[in-house]
Amino acid sequence: MPWFDTKMSRRKFLKLAGSGIAIVVVGGTVWRAFSNGVFSTGQGPAYEPWNDWKTESQQGAGPLSLVASAILAANAHNTQPWLFVVNPNRIDLFADTKRNIGAIDPYLREMFEGLGCALENLVLAAEAKGYAYNLKLMPEPTGKTHVATISLISNRKINNSISGNNTTTTLSSNLSEPSSLYNAIPQRHTNRGPYEMNKPVTQDILQSLGSLSKTISPEGAMTIFWFTTVDQRHKVGDLILQATQAIIADEQQSYNDFKWYRASWQDIQTYKDGLTVDTSGSPWYIEVLAKILPPISEKEFDNSQLQLAKDTYVATASAFGIIAVHDVFDDIQRLQGGMFYQRMHLWATSNGIAMQPLNQMTERADREVSLGIKQTFGNALRELIANPNWQALMTFRIGYPTLEALSSPRRSVQEVVVSSV
Ligand SMILES: Cc1cc2nc3c(=O)[nH]c(=O)nc-3n(C[C@H](O)[C@H](O)[C@H](O)COP(=O)(O)O)c2cc1C
Repeated sequence: MPWFDTKMSRRKFLKLAGSGIAIVVVGGTVWRAFSNGVFSTGQGPAYEPWNDWKTESQQGAGPLSLVASAILAANAHNTQPWLFVVNPNRIDLFADTKRNIGAIDPYLREMFEGLGCALENLVLAAEAKGYAYNLKLMPEPTGKTHVATISLISNRKINNSISGNNTTTTLSSNLSEPSSLYNAIPQRHTNRGPYEMNKPVTQDILQSLGSLSKTISPEGAMTIFWFTTVDQRHKVGDLILQATQAIIADEQQSYNDFKWYRASWQDIQTYKDGLTVDTSGSPWYIEVLAKILPPISEKEFDNSQLQLAKDTYVATASAFGIIAVHDVFDDIQRLQGGMFYQRMHLWATSNGIAMQPLNQMTERADREVSLGIKQTFGNALRELIANPNWQALMTFRIGYPTLEALSSPRRSVQEVVVSSV
């Protein structure tokens, strides 16, 4: 019989612990539990932006309140690679390339996707606050880090537009409920827990999600490939596990991966970024143990990643999706792909559906290109897509959640707004 009751909920355990009943462990461990945040999950400065959003959404209407929405977006490894220059009628978004993930993202593909996610939140907030806007992606042809300029006009009647590569397209406003997407911003979290095995996401829902791509790029800059049958899911799932193993076996990738894992409460509150045990999808008692025991090593982190991928992420996926674009090395298409992912995730959130990116295959594909080695995963992705017009940008799983996903840390608006870059 384990010392914990596997049926006891996290809340019940923490309540008992808080009232002193569960303090049966020796003194040093209790102290460690308190100082490592066992009883204060989701609290402290690292989590304040999630609460600040609520205040901003009720009170603030200026451009800074749009940034408060942008910083809650999905982004690879929670590196938050963004800097904002804010003026009364204009916001400029820059890539903070110092916050790259090294060998995990050698061509900054994931960085640009995450910046696209932030832009999606930003424009939804602009719409919710009555701004018309003009969004120009990669506004300086030679400036690789100037990601977007959002010109703001306080007049709802003017069409919102997105432009990039000298082509201007009108952002369709035929979203059924733009405000439900906006309202989902602080509820959206990457859910790494198990998904319902007996409740598949229907084809109708997958189709509705896929059709959101047209609301971002009516000209069809991206599409989605779904993998829903048992055979298809086995195929994609096996490849994700093989890619996870390849990342672990690659010293540099393993090191760069682990570098963004924040093991201690102190680090989480200091850096306000990275991956945490609370968001790993582990059972609650593992989360508690991870905080009480000494920090795990890189090897232990690798093993836990593989185990979680095998037992939970892949095993309980209702479907896998791959967002595809025409050219994965094109920054505008990466940004649009990120906007699409974020919009789908917000839509899913507002419909009680969970999502988790699983990008091990594309991380390996880019690594293979950067090392000039055999394109095992590059070829596997081309085979999965089986259409030379499309290239795999980003993979994720979808399903109905069995566990609530917790917030990840965030740096505040003040920490990412700069006067110039
Ligand atoms: C481009 C991109 C790639 C990502 N890749 C993965 C991944 O391979 N595995 C995973 O568990 N999460 C992945 N994520 C999710 C991020 O880790 C997550 O968004 C970040 O930690 C912030 O947490 P939140 O989404 O709950 O706010 C990815 C997100 C983005 C935008």
